Formats: sequence, C-alpha cells, structure tokens
Amino acid sequence: MKIFLDTAEIEEIKIAARWGVLDGVTTNPSLYAKVGGSYDAILQEICKITSGPVSAEVISDDVEGMLTEGRHFAKLAPNIVVKVAMSENGLEAISRLADEGIKTNCTLVFSTNQGLLAAKAGASLISPFVGRLDDINQDGMTVIRELAEIFSLYSIEAEILAASIRNPLHMTQAALAGAHVATVPFKILQQMVHHPLTDKGIVQFKKDWEAAQQAAAAKS
Ligand code: E4P
Repeated sequence: MKIFLDTAEIEEIKIAARWGVLDGVTTNPSLYAKVGGSYDAILQEICKITSGPVSAEVISDDVEGMLTEGRHFAKLAPNIVVKVAMSENGLEAISRLADEGIKTNCTLVFSTNQGLLAAKAGASLISPFVGRLDDINQDGMTVIRELAEIFSLYSIEAEILAASIRNPLHMTQAALAGAHVATVPFKILQQMVHHPLTDKGIVQFKKDWEAAQQAAAAKS
C-alpha cells in the first residue's frame, strides 16, 4: 500500500521523504489554510520534494470553474492530481479532465456507490473519508473493503485512497481492506514508527553496550 502525507507543511513532507516512505501528498483547503501564503507556490514546492502524485483541490461549484482551476493546477507540475469533490458537477468535471489527460482525485466520498461513480467518470484516485464516517457511527472501512472488492471484480483501474485517517489502527485496517493508498497526517506517521518495546529496547541496548565498553576499558 502506498503512503501519502496528508498535509501542506513542507517540513513534514521533507522528513517523510528522507525516511523513504513517501509516495505522494494530499492537500485540501483546510490543510492549506493552516499554512497560508500562495497555494500555487506550496504545491510547486511539494512537487519538488516528491515525484509522486500531489493532490490540489478545486473550490468552484460549477463545472467550468472546476475545469479552469484544474487546468491551472495541472500546469504547475507534471505530478499534480486535481482533487474534485463528489457532486453531479464534480463528476462532469472529472470526466472532462480525464478526456484532457488530467488526473483527478475524487474527494469527499462517503459511500461505495459514490466511489463507483467516480471511478466510472474517470477519476484516478477515489478518496473515501474513513474517519469522518466513523465520527457519525458508520464503519468507514466498509466503504474501502466494498470498493476494493468491486474494483477487483470488474478490473477497475482507479486506486482507492483511504482518507481522513485518524489513528495508526486505521492504517493497518486500510491496508487489510485493500486500499491502494492511505493518506496520513504526519503525527500518525510518527506514531506508526514507534512502539514502547522498541523505544525501551533501544535504551537498554545502548546501556548494555556502554557498560560493556566501560568493563573492557577497566580490564585494559
Ligand atoms: C485527504 O485527501 C482528505 O482531505 C483528508 O484526509 C481529510 O481528513 P479529515 O477528515 O481529518 O479532515
């Protein structure tokens, strides 16, 4: 499963890239608002760090507006993927952008049927929001699992991107449910690295090594 970072924070993206675990980045208007400045400049900076897909979200409600924004983003870097929210206009924009060879990520997907429609319209990435479904007492991972089964049954090429990941367990569950990608906040990526027994083991190994060095030095 590919791992994308769900952030517009350049430093976080640089760290994940240095760890060798970064396959792409997703941004959205809320993540951008936390950083501020020029959205275009941030996207270009991110695209210099990773050659993987970088999602840039349109905010227009009408098809022509979505197309104008999408074409603009697509010119910023070759790895930009235009993020379009699920809606009737969104499906049309996805279909027309696909005809122009521009890749899209259909966002704000909350049902299997929405995901199926987005794939049929031509989206490359389909983003079910797992955490926001869990928040309203619906099992977000069911959408991932059902889409994975349907895409496999009908050899649909679109990739399922598990979004709105809230904890490390979501990452494991998304992988087991058949998500092709999961996008994760940096804090959760850090949590995935750590385990109390790993951290304790590192301290103990270092302590034992130093004790052995001191004993050897005392003998010589
Ligand atoms: C990513 O593409 C989504 O915009 C993001 O994962 C949403 O996460 P949230 O529900 O925590 O805002």
